[in-house]
This record gives sequence, C-alpha cells and structure tokens, in this order.
Amino acid sequence: MCGIIGYIGNKNCVPLLIEGLKRLEYRGYDSAGIGVIKDGQSIIVKNKGKVSELQAKVEQLDLEANIGLGHTRWATHGIPNEINAHPHQNSDGTIFLIHNGIIENYKPLKKILSQEGYKFSSETDTEVIAHLIDSFLKKGFDFFKATRLALLEIEGTYGLAVLYTREPDKIIVARKGSPIILGIGNNENFVASDVSAVLAHTKNVIYLEDGEIALLKKDDYLVRTITDDEVIKEVQEISMTLDEIDKGGYPHFMLKEIMEQPESLRNSIRGRLLLEEGTAKLGGLDNIIDDLLDVDRFIITACGTSWHAGLVAEYMFEQFIRIPTEVEYASEFRYRNPVINKRDAVFFISQSGETADTLAALRETKLRGGIAIGICNVVGSSIARESDSGVYIHAGPEIGVASTKAFTSQLIVLALITLLIARRKNLSLENGREIAKAISRIPDQVAEILKLNDKIEEIAEKFKDAKNFLYLGRGYNFPVALEGALKLKEISYIHAEGYPAAEMKHGPIALIDENMPVVFIAPKDATYDKIISNIQEVKARGGRIIAIASEGDEEIKDLVEYVIYIPHTIAMLKPILTVIPLQLLAYHIAVKKGLNVDQPRNLAKSVTVE
Ligand code: F6R
Repeated sequence: MCGIIGYIGNKNCVPLLIEGLKRLEYRGYDSAGIGVIKDGQSIIVKNKGKVSELQAKVEQLDLEANIGLGHTRWATHGIPNEINAHPHQNSDGTIFLIHNGIIENYKPLKKILSQEGYKFSSETDTEVIAHLIDSFLKKGFDFFKATRLALLEIEGTYGLAVLYTREPDKIIVARKGSPIILGIGNNENFVASDVSAVLAHTKNVIYLEDGEIALLKKDDYLVRTITDDEVIKEVQEISMTLDEIDKGGYPHFMLKEIMEQPESLRNSIRGRLLLEEGTAKLGGLDNIIDDLLDVDRFIITACGTSWHAGLVAEYMFEQFIRIPTEVEYASEFRYRNPVINKRDAVFFISQSGETADTLAALRETKLRGGIAIGICNVVGSSIARESDSGVYIHAGPEIGVASTKAFTSQLIVLALITLLIARRKNLSLENGREIAKAISRIPDQVAEILKLNDKIEEIAEKFKDAKNFLYLGRGYNFPVALEGALKLKEISYIHAEGYPAAEMKHGPIALIDENMPVVFIAPKDATYDKIISNIQEVKARGGRIIAIASEGDEEIKDLVEYVIYIPHTIAMLKPILTVIPLQLLAYHIAVKKGLNVDQPRNLAKSVTVE
C-alpha cells in the first residue's frame, strides 16, 4: 500500500524519484517524501497530501543529487502528517530510510532505545529502525552489517530501503512480508515496491524474497539472507510496457479499466480454451490436476472484491465439479484455527497477490498440508510465488483502487478452472463444449454492454444524490449484488448494501420508501420468477427500481423505472455480464459527485497490512 522508490547512479535522482512516486501514488497517498544525499549531507523533503504538492515543494529547493529515496505513505501508525511521512532518520540525520509494513515490536524497542538516550520525533513504528541501525553503527559495525543486525531485532513486516551519509555509494534494501524489487540498469540501479515505478528506466528486475537483504551500488549489487547466507538471484525481464500503465486517453484509470474488459478478458482466455474438446488448458495446474480430482473439499479465501469472485466460484464448483466448497474471508480464516488437511485444495484469489491476510492464510494452509492454489493478477507477486500452483488472470495492471477488470478476469479464470476439472470428472463433452463456447463469446458480449455507457450515465445523473442504495440478486448474481454495492460505496461514499433478494423480506424491506433506489440483478435464469416477485414487493412500497435484465425481457420493463439489458449467456457466466453496468453506474455517480474515483479516501490498492 505504501510506495517505495530509490535511485543510485549518475543522474539527478530528484525528478526520477518524483516520477516514480507518481506511478506509485495509487498504492497509498496520505503523504509523501523524498530524501537524498548531497555533499555528504542528508536532505529530506516531506509533505502531507499528494505527490504533486511534494513536487512543488521540491522544485522550489532546486535540489540535485545522485542517490535518494522516495515514499508515498498510507498511514498505519500515527496520523497522516508531515512529521510521520517517510523518510525517517536518526538523530543526527546520517541515516534515513523508507519502510512499508508494520514493526510489531516497535514499542519495546522504542522503550529500550529511549532508555539509551534516543529521542523520537514521530509517532511511527518506522522511526525505531533508524535509531536501531544507529545503535549498531555506534557499536562499530559497518552500514550493511548494522542494518542486518537491526533487522534481526525486528518483529513484523517490512519492505525497506536505507541510506547512510557516511557510506553514500550504497542503498540497503530488505524484505520481510512487504514486496520490494531491485531494478537493474546500466550504471544505475533502482529499488521499488512495484515494478511500475521503475519501468520507464529498466525492465530488468530482481524480486527480493522474505528474509533477504541487498546492498545496491550504482554498478553492482549483492544479496544475502538476513542471517548472512549468500543468495544467488536471477534477474528477470518484465514484459509489461509503460503504455499498459497509462490512462490511455480516459479521464480515469477506473473508466479505462472498465472499458478495456473485452481485451482483458480475451487475454485471460487466450490459449486456454479448447472449443472442440470442450475443456480448458491451464499449465499452472498441471502439477496438481490429478490431486484436484480427488480432493474432499475446496476452500476459497480472499478479501473484498476477490472474495466476491470466490463466492461466484462456490456456485460454479458445486454445480459442475460437485465437490463441497467453502468461501471465507482470508482475515477470518487465518485466525480461527481452520481445519485443513492434505485432501483440501485451498484457492487464494488476489489481484495484487500481496494482500496481507490472503498471504497469511496461504502460509497457514501450506503449514497444515493443504494444496495451495493462487489466482493472481500481478506476476511474481508473493501469493503467486508461494502457492503450490496457480493461474494468472492476465488482466494487465489495475491501477484504479476499485477493482473492475481484475474481478471479471478472476471470474473467467474460475470458469476455466471449473471447466477443466469438471471435464476431467464427469461433465459430458456436449456440456463442456457448451460452456467453452459461452466463455469464448464473453469478451464480445461485454463489449456490447459497454455501448450502454451513455444510458448508464443518464441513470447515474438521476440517482447521484441518493443517500442509500440496495442491491439484490439471487444465485450466481447474489455475489454481484455485493460487488455492485461495494463498488458504489467505495468510490461514491453512498451507503449501499448487497443482499440475496429473498432475504429482503427478513429485514431490509423496512428501509424501502420512495427515497430508496433498489438495483435488481434479474437476468433470465432459474430464479427469474422469484426475483420478479421481489421486484413487485419493492414496487408496492414505492421503491425506485433499476433492473439488470436479459435482452428481450419485455415483462420487466413495466415493473421498473430503468432497465439495462445484457446479452444471453449460461448462468455461471452471467455475473461477468451483470457486473459491468454496476461498475459503470458506480463510476458515473462518483464522477458526478466530483469525487476522486481512482484514489478514493481511506483506501489503498494493495492492502499489505492486516
Ligand atoms: C475493491 C477492492 C478491494 C480488493 C481487496 C483484495 O474494489 O479492490 O476490495 O478486492 O483489497 O485485494 P486483492 O485482490 O489484491 O487481494
């Protein structure tokens, strides 16, 4: 969630750091700062608020340096203000550092350091690291060893980069629980929490693993474990291009990402669908496919939108694979002493692949012998690397904080997994072909729905001042109701709830009056008649109804104020279509309210703390 960028080389690092921070701003953005070494002195500039404000401040200073660090902060300890922003330094300013993660034992460490005479100026957990390194330097260790020894004292998580003015040709970088990469250039090197920050300069990166520490010079690097064993690292080439992480002419990343779903879905399917054989090919599952046919249970854990994708998968897996499936929030799963054994296959769905709770649930599963399968978007992310096997969703970089294209790609990949396993079990060739064909048509059908953008914008205009929204759906579309409500509340700050439509009578119906917009997800499927009854119940109480319905459904028109039609597909794939209008509705409402849809308040793209 916080962003890290660092540079060492011959160029002026200041504009490079600011540019890198702008690329990282989507991860967390309550404050930002840079620190450089110039003429043997540290210079730190920090600011509450946006990177652009930091940039204005830096530009007034006319600063130039060849080594420096930059950070965007998403507060965990201490309010978002200038003092708590990173970099943090020791008392004489010779050491400064930037940190992502949480130092769990910072209070006892702070107490010990205070007793030794160290003075703290911020409320952060991070500041203890600067003083702790200082205390080891004072014992006579060199910079690298002092940092390594300090980190051995630390409990918690960190992605960390440290500078020391007396050894100004080195950046020390370490990782435990928070992602960090080294960007390897030509006579210049970078450190970043995310490849997007360095992509403009190099495509060659080294992923640090937990427990590793690196010494980075402008023309050299060295990686060891925190316990001082040698590590040989492979330099990997990134295939993502800068164009892919730009807005591509759209006013917001979120709209761009909604609009590119036909393409992202095509990418998710590409090379994986066998139409004739009526099945799917997923190389990432080859090593465990036989085990998957014979497991007792599927468990799916995830957070937020990815959890909603998991709920849809529960319907898919149980309908077609006929293996009992449980879906659980990763945060609950990891802490409740879950029963997991060798005959359980546990899926970890995560766009970022870095969500702290999902990653912890994965580690717990592996410890207990379950089969761990990652469904991730970010290639090389922690969940992807630590899973026994897995499938990338290939949605491309998702920058808008509200997840859109990753959700639909997660759903299509889960459909491919369902098809693959179901065909290996007892799904007929005919049914397999039907599903495969339906999957292949989804990208074009999504493109059709996106043509309704103007109409959805008009609906948004009518409802933008509502204070509450209710989203109702049944079966496969119940999770879509949850997702529609989540999209609206996170970017428009309108209170919204998703419910299984039949549950409405058990409570939420009391909320319905002429001020309550109710979005019904009501495509033609097995529960259609029932949902029409639910619509009648809302109409009888004066509720204002928007329906997402199947094209050709004339009956529903007379019952509701607005209807948005989606093309026909099989039930398991309907959520991929029904969610699209809900993404657009949330987007337009938020824009009309003048809100920052790409960076909604209090939220971060990648939640790497618990
Ligand atoms: C909502 C949203 C979040 C994420 C959640 C999990 O739009 O983006 O709810 O889905 O934080 O993130 P990942 O999928 O990266 O594990």
